[in-house]
Amino acid sequence: MLSSGRGRHTWRHENSKDERAQQNHWSECGRSTPGANTHALGRPHRSVLAFGNTMESYPAMMIRPIEWLRDGAALLASDTTFTTDRIYRVSQKGLSISLNEEFLLAPLKKNYPLHNLEKDVLSSSVALLAHERDCLVGFAVIKEQVWNSRAELTHLYVSPGHRGRGIGQSMISNVTALLQASKCRCLWAETQNTNYAAVRFYLKAGFRLCGFDCSLYDGPLSEETAVFLQRDLRPNQVASPNLRPARRRRVRVREDAGGR
Ligand SMILES: CC(C)(COP(=O)(O)OP(=O)(O)OC[C@H]1O[C@@H](n2cnc3c(N)ncnc32)[C@H](O)[C@@H]1OP(=O)(O)O)[C@@H](O)C(=O)NCCC(=O)NCCS
Repeated sequence: MLSSGRGRHTWRHENSKDERAQQNHWSECGRSTPGANTHALGRPHRSVLAFGNTMESYPAMMIRPIEWLRDGAALLASDTTFTTDRIYRVSQKGLSISLNEEFLLAPLKKNYPLHNLEKDVLSSSVALLAHERDCLVGFAVIKEQVWNSRAELTHLYVSPGHRGRGIGQSMISNVTALLQASKCRCLWAETQNTNYAAVRFYLKAGFRLCGFDCSLYDGPLSEETAVFLQRDLRPNQVASPNLRPARRRRVRVREDAGGR
């Protein structure tokens, strides 16, 4: 079972016939997920999920710990693609670095490889997935660093057809509750200046910018800047959301649109 102490939060599991059937079903769900980003459709009321509970507005939605033997195949088949019509342009002046929203001439499409997922899940301190009935709709993997009591968000994905419904926010709420119970100091995340939605998402979830690195990536990603954010988890330090209210502009681009 999942516990809030340091150490792995994954379950040992027999890979039974039923579970192999479940794996196949997971995979089918992943592939058949509709491409529409529901952010463009507005958002109903949401509530924070707890293990074994359902979301008020989405009674079929559940969050539970990842069991690699049962869930691994479906997790590896997840669609991590995102498409954006804007990025944050990084500019540097003197000792100041800033991120400025900039619209692109052509949409940018990117995906995150999952090469290290198995290793990351098996060495994680928290690994959760969200599912709606038999459909995997998102997952989050966190690794705690003991020496500085900091937890690193190594993976966070919501299936394209399920974005904008509060699932990412709910997973972060579950993760932070567990990390706070284990006296973790902060939750740290890395994204890129090109991932506009992720930067907005983290800021809305109470994260604050804590660093940039324009030399981190190699190859085709070398023009991207790594953006680091952290959310303080200490009592009385938990930040409130950091976005201007009622900002409803959305990334409204077709998922099949061309890009870099
Ligand atoms: C980033 C991601 C995890 C967000 O998950 P999600 O379930 O869609 O996010 P939520 O519905 O919980 O959104 C919470 C808040 O984040 C912000 N946000 C999320 N998506 C946004 C978008 N496309 N544009 C602008 N703001 C966005 C909003 O402020 C939103 O709150 P609001 O709708 O009340 O304004 C999801 O878009 C995703 O999986 N993207 C592809 C993979 C990825 O980028 N992962 C992160 C890697 S660093």
